[in-house]
Amino acid sequence: MTFHFLGQSGFFVQTGDYEFLIDPFLTGNDTAADKPGDFSPAYIILTHAHGDHYGDTEAIATRSGATVVASYEVVTYLGKKDVKGQPLNIGGEVTLPFGTVKQTPAWHSNSLPDGSYAGMPAGILLGLEGKRIYHAGDTGLFSDMAMIGRGGLDLAILPIGDLLTMGPKDALEAVKLLKPKQVIPVHYNTFPMIEQDAEAFKARVENETDAEVVILNPGERLTL
Ligand code: NI
Ligand code: MN
Repeated sequence: MTFHFLGQSGFFVQTGDYEFLIDPFLTGNDTAADKPGDFSPAYIILTHAHGDHYGDTEAIATRSGATVVASYEVVTYLGKKDVKGQPLNIGGEVTLPFGTVKQTPAWHSNSLPDGSYAGMPAGILLGLEGKRIYHAGDTGLFSDMAMIGRGGLDLAILPIGDLLTMGPKDALEAVKLLKPKQVIPVHYNTFPMIEQDAEAFKARVENETDAEVVILNPGERLTL
């Protein structure tokens, strides 16, 4: 399977015969290497509905007919726009044709682009091809990450931008709790306020843990 980085927290995932998007923020993202029209996924998974995650969800789903996997409140909102949805809430897991998707806690806030209530923000735990992948969404550090790491993680996607999410120091602590094999840092350098040195983060994590940090520029991919 491949995880193609869209920039900010977004990914285009190809697994078996299936393709899906996570947090597809492309329009208005100056760092993005892709355009919304490049993708016609069957599913779009959202950690939460802030603009830098919700992004092009509505336009892509309307065009491709994708089902949006998100909080009950976001799915209800999109339903009024004739977009199909699969609601989840924290702790809930759904089995889809390509694997499993489970919502995990995230310490953050959440609202839709028009300001309406979007339910709880979340992380997502994916079960794909026998591998476990955790996308933390936007969150601060929390000790229950150790529980998410139980059972082993092949990949953890963690924000390092600080101010609005964990910064590099707390993301290092998150790696120690999660114990993933590989880490992709995200949610940095998209805007001046979340500028970070990803190479310094990589050096520190690889010095203090067994995890490998994979730095992806928008448009680059990791094969698992
Ligand atoms: Ni957010
Ligand atoms: Mn964000």
